[in-house]
Amino acid sequence: MPSCRLADDFAARLLAWWDEHGRHDLPWQHPRTAYRVWVAEIMLQQTQVSTVIHYYRPFLQRFPDLQTLACAGIDDIMSAWSGLGYYRRAVHMHRAAQLCMQLHKGALPTTAEALLALPGIGRSTANAIISQSLDLPLPILDGNLKRVLARHAGIAGWPGERSVERKLWLAAELRLPQHRGADYAQACMDLGATLCRRRQPRCGDCPVAGDCHALQLSQQDELPGRRQRRAKTQRQLQLLVYRRGDQILLQKRPAIGIWASMWSLPEGTADPRSAQAMQVIRHELTHLQLHITPWLMPETAECMVADTPLQWYKLRESLQLGLPKPIRDIIAQLPEPD
Ligand code: ADE
Repeated sequence: MPSCRLADDFAARLLAWWDEHGRHDLPWQHPRTAYRVWVAEIMLQQTQVSTVIHYYRPFLQRFPDLQTLACAGIDDIMSAWSGLGYYRRAVHMHRAAQLCMQLHKGALPTTAEALLALPGIGRSTANAIISQSLDLPLPILDGNLKRVLARHAGIAGWPGERSVERKLWLAAELRLPQHRGADYAQACMDLGATLCRRRQPRCGDCPVAGDCHALQLSQQDELPGRRQRRAKTQRQLQLLVYRRGDQILLQKRPAIGIWASMWSLPEGTADPRSAQAMQVIRHELTHLQLHITPWLMPETAECMVADTPLQWYKLRESLQLGLPKPIRDIIAQLPEPD
């Protein structure tokens, strides 16, 4: 079967590279017990090895086994976690340890399904724990592996999309070796962390560069795909600048909509035969792209907009109000009164 050849070939090259160049002295590798691997994998979620390395041994000294962790106070655990960030992980670990005491006789369960049922453990973490502690080849798909596989297999699209993630899991499964599950898991993670980096990947040193889709098509920078931001709605906004000596007319915005309840320039339509358009200002809001045209109204013009309160302010005073940034900019660039 071609898929078996792909697996043997990919895994064999990766393992041969790892034997020579991989990381063999990480503290959770010696010994690779389920508890030690679990603690490492939770710490390594969203956190690099170079940071975790400073916290791992002290944590293991303080909480050498699952029972000790389950019986510890959460304050103690938090203090050992302090500096690692994402503190919910520590709360989940504590809770998971207590569940293991109740449900699994004080040990971590040995199937991915039972691990998945514990707080803080997703499919990739469950497989990472089983593959390393029981030496079983199981697919792993953390952030690094998503990048490696999207590039090697040429899987386009943002990995956060369900359909893209499904393809990535399949690619991970197709490449699994039959043996050396623990080494293979570590080799995959080492490849992602050290060679197949997001920026400036070291393709020249990569053991699987020979059939890497991204390298062949020079798509390393495009794969994996990034999240598509929805195009923002474009909105034109006509703002009227009424001056009276050193005063300017402001209007309170409605309670809903953009700049809700803030003071702003009155919104309305100007007659281009008598009003003078100022430079258009582009301004981004979370969901909107505004194109603001401020109109200098003739001094004699009556203000015709009055759905919400209007108020004359001295120019200088108006800048003390909490005005939206583009409004402040418009007012600040108005010429001083004669
Ligand atoms: N990231 C997640 N798990 C890891 C591991 N075991 N080694 C290195 N980086 C990792």
